[in-house]
Amino acid sequence: MATGGYLPERIMTNAELASMVDTTDEWIQTRTGIKKRHIAAENETTADMAEQAARNAIAAADIDVNSIDFIILATSTPDLIYPSTACLLQNRLGIHNGCAAFDIQAVCSGFVYALSIADKYIKSGSAKRALIIGADTNSKILDWTDRSTCVVFGDGAGAVILQANDEPGIYSTHLHADGAYADLLQVPSGVSNRKGEPFIKMRGNEVFKIAVKTLSDIVKETLDANGLTKNDIDWLVPHQANIRIIAATAKKLELSMDKVVLTVAEHGNTSAGSIPLALDSAVRAGDIKRGQTLLLEAFGGGFTWGSALIKY
Ligand code: ACO
Repeated sequence: MATGGYLPERIMTNAELASMVDTTDEWIQTRTGIKKRHIAAENETTADMAEQAARNAIAAADIDVNSIDFIILATSTPDLIYPSTACLLQNRLGIHNGCAAFDIQAVCSGFVYALSIADKYIKSGSAKRALIIGADTNSKILDWTDRSTCVVFGDGAGAVILQANDEPGIYSTHLHADGAYADLLQVPSGVSNRKGEPFIKMRGNEVFKIAVKTLSDIVKETLDANGLTKNDIDWLVPHQANIRIIAATAKKLELSMDKVVLTVAEHGNTSAGSIPLALDSAVRAGDIKRGQTLLLEAFGGGFTWGSALIKY
């Protein structure tokens, strides 16, 4: 596995947000752990960010792009209704081998969903080398007058190259969804229904409580499925939504926060970009090392949630 990431150049601090809505740096840091986030330029799109992250992962893997035979891009903020952002990316990268390329939408769990699909294709022998990207331009679907959402999100993209190997890389993935909770977190406008506002609406406190419970459960499910205990985990790589949700999951695992990859302070919640960006930052910092066991976990709109147990 090789990783890449990309964050837009522009950084928005909590102080800047406090000049836009009725909030404070202290409230944002205490409630979320976020200090700043990156915001895409006016003309910068999800495909732009995905391309940079993908190029960084391809460079890290040191591979010919045309050896990639499967592309999945997780996003809730595609450039176009169609073609998919994955197809746009395939062309930009100069991949002309006819490999499958498609987007998937599972909001903040999107990257784990994409990883799971790619893993199944590789394990079945249908693909040998996959490019998996999580990318979201949340700033384009934020109501910048709504303090309950605009302080939480940021923009960014992360990518991994996953390839067939005799040694197990991904031990297991676990995906779940429950559409009964659609009202708690949604962008209530789409293509066949344009009645609602095209902005993120979140009943944060209710989402928070369910996220903590659900993530604790999926961590247990993942360890049990592999006959492992918390002591076997070198790093928890959680979705970076809120430091308090992450800390609650780590506590449940009785895992020291030293073993948790944290980027929420610098990135905010980048939705599908969050886990691959966190993974990439820890790999590049030299914290995550070859052979270590990683537990990835995500929770997002849908609700969707998922996990992956990986030997890096
Ligand atoms: N600044 C100051 N005050 C605020 C702000 C703000 N930015 N936002 C809300 N408040 C106020 C509220 O109005 C409320 O005031 P009141 O008590 O007078 O009514 C008070 O702060 C508390 O509000 P809560 O919503 O209860 O605050 P909470 O501690 O729950 O924190 C937060 C809000 C940060 C959004 C938290 O609930 C959270 O992180 N939720 C989960 C988010 C998540 O995990 N989402 C899933 C993934 S995202 C995806 O899939 C796209």
